[in-house]
Amino acid sequence: MTTVNAPKISEYKEATRIERVGAQSHIRGLGLDGDLEPRNISQGMVGQKKARKAAGIILNTIRAGKIAGRSILIAGQPGTGKTAIAMGVAKALGNDIPFTAMAGSEIFSLQMSKTESLTQAFRRSIGVRIKEETEIVEGEVVEIEIDKSATSGAKTGKITLKTTEMETVYDLGAKMIESITKEKITSGDVITIDKVSGRISKLGRSFSKASEFDALGAQTRHVQCPEGEIEKRKEVVHTVTLHEIDVINSRQKGFLDLFSGDTGEIDSEIRDQIDSKVAEWKEEGKADIVPGVLFIDEVHMLDIECFSFLNRALESDKAPIVILATNRGITNIRGTTYKGPHGLPIDLLDRCLIIQTEPYNEAEIRSILEIRCEEEDVEMTEEAKEVLTKIGVDTTLRYAIQLITTANLVAQKRKSNEVDVEDVRRVYSMFIDHVRSTQYLRDHQAEYMFDEYQKQTQKMQVE
Ligand SMILES: Nc1ncnc2c1ncn2[C@@H]1O[C@H](COP(=O)(O)OP(=O)(O)O)[C@@H](O)[C@H]1O
Ligand SMILES: [Mg+2]
Repeated sequence: MTTVNAPKISEYKEATRIERVGAQSHIRGLGLDGDLEPRNISQGMVGQKKARKAAGIILNTIRAGKIAGRSILIAGQPGTGKTAIAMGVAKALGNDIPFTAMAGSEIFSLQMSKTESLTQAFRRSIGVRIKEETEIVEGEVVEIEIDKSATSGAKTGKITLKTTEMETVYDLGAKMIESITKEKITSGDVITIDKVSGRISKLGRSFSKASEFDALGAQTRHVQCPEGEIEKRKEVVHTVTLHEIDVINSRQKGFLDLFSGDTGEIDSEIRDQIDSKVAEWKEEGKADIVPGVLFIDEVHMLDIECFSFLNRALESDKAPIVILATNRGITNIRGTTYKGPHGLPIDLLDRCLIIQTEPYNEAEIRSILEIRCEEEDVEMTEEAKEVLTKIGVDTTLRYAIQLITTANLVAQKRKSNEVDVEDVRRVYSMFIDHVRSTQYLRDHQAEYMFDEYQKQTQKMQVE
């Protein structure tokens, strides 16, 4: 292979970043002010101020992009916001700096060796900012015609675009019609269409239509009708990761592998070629390297081979910032018979800056629960919040968070839009927390298969 291809913007854009509402969906940043001081409640973040401030300092280091190969360990009890803080860092970094999140257990796969999957994770976390010329179609929409076939229901259509000098009619395929509908494109809008991907972006409303649409309000941006040719070339800058370049250049299917996730192992020869090509692009001013973040949650799940890989990989000048998180105390280092603090070998630990998270007090638990209620669109009476907070204090924060949606379902069943104390009580008795579950197992051990409670010599983890 002699040529290394840079992925085109159109190829990778749709393959990345699908967001879902999940346990960390309310986290929108670290909630720090301009001086890196943590605000009380901000961007979905509550309390845990020392750790958030420390993470803010790391964030600035990452943004500056100057330092490679540092590692940070976030250590603390379960449910103290370790993952939340890492996600806060990710959100604060934005889309232009790569952030890869994985759990330690993910490296155990039959398709790939452990070191290969760590190598891929490292390379996912290094961005290459590439300048690229693309072909676009840009103009003011004169007319859109969409027809639906009476028999098949398939849609076909035409769009007429103009500039100050010319006017052209384009045929529309089903995918284009869908995005035109989604973006609510109408005549008088000025739009660009990426010729390869068909992605449509709306630049604004044409000034010539300004008077007709006074009712659109202050949100509407007015732009000039474009001049010159409708089809033109434009320079754009986009960030891809080294891993994406690896994949595109290593397989026949190219970027499609990014969709399927089926990347397999990548030849180290290809990686070497890509590295030297990227260095060349950098030299020629076509690309910049953007070191990002690799977050390995539950890092105690890695084993000694992985730890030794990490030690070495962190020394490379192209290493990302590595953030590790663990809730373990002094425990076995996997793959050895030794114990280490947090289940990590001392030589790795020695390279880490350690951020400690602390358990929350009652007021903080209440604030987090309130934020989650809002996030999950659940109305709750003050008294119910009080009870739920008590549950959070007595059991775990995570358990209390889980009860929000379930209590809401119970409330809806009795046709109420607001969760009250009785709903929280109902779900508290319906779904038990781990302490009650353990107690139950102890009381009923004889009825279960493989129960080893009697024989057990080690302390149970939940105690
Ligand atoms: N300081 C915080 N502010 C807001 N939400 C938090 C905070 N700490 C934890 N949470 C939320 O509580 C839940 C459990 O926290 P998590 O980050 O998963 O804990 P850990 O990773 O330490 O076990 C998550 O839904 C998380 O978003
Ligand atoms: Mg976690």
